[in-house]
Amino acid sequence: MGDIIVAIDGHAATGKSTQSKKIASYLNYKYIDSGAMYRAVTLFAIRNKISPNNLNQINFMLSNIKINFKISDYENRTFLNDEDVEGLIRSKEVSNKVSSYAKVKKIREFLISKQREFGLNKKIVMDGRDIGTVVFPKAECKFFFKSDIKISADRRYKEIIESGSHRTYKDVLLEVSRRDSTDTKRKYSPLKKAEDSIEIDVSNKSVDEVFKDLLLIIETKIKRLTK
Ligand code: CDP
Repeated sequence: MGDIIVAIDGHAATGKSTQSKKIASYLNYKYIDSGAMYRAVTLFAIRNKISPNNLNQINFMLSNIKINFKISDYENRTFLNDEDVEGLIRSKEVSNKVSSYAKVKKIREFLISKQREFGLNKKIVMDGRDIGTVVFPKAECKFFFKSDIKISADRRYKEIIESGSHRTYKDVLLEVSRRDSTDTKRKYSPLKKAEDSIEIDVSNKSVDEVFKDLLLIIETKIKRLTK
């Protein structure tokens, strides 16, 4: 009855997954990180030397790939053909290459159909680039996150350092801005705000402030639907 789909799209490293996890946990919904699926495909392609420009290789890859999530109270982990790849898909190499694979129509079609399966019974929070525009255009709540690029890069840089990896701030800034540019300019489901999406500028807001803003809107929507 009051079950909904929450779509959170936006620019790279704007805190979409942090907020999505918090909302999913608060509502007791499922959280799906659609970016992790593009990252897992990219990891498979790198390992098997599959070029984003070779359609035969791409088709071969997609018929040999299985992506799953193991969801617990504490974390979500991504599995590629039953291997836990949660750490590996966040590597510098995958981050630098993922947008080139995410441009490919066949890859998008493959992942979008999987993403729609996850949302069949609603009660889901999904974050990405095209969730409100293409994957779930009828999602009841849609948000679009944007932020000052330097603040986004700083957020991602801190996450990387905290996870024990080493990258320079400059390198992360370059990666995040290149990805945003490729994601925005691509032909199939580019990064763009859906008309009925609520824009949230997270630049100068704390995690708790953004969470409160989102929750207010989501709870109002759910109440309206249950009336
Ligand atoms: O966490 P971050 O915002 O840096 O990125 P992500 O959500 O892990 O997504 C990684 C990449 O996957 C993006 O830069 C896009 O190229 C691609 N992606 C996409 O094309 N469509 C989605 N729905 C989600 C991710």
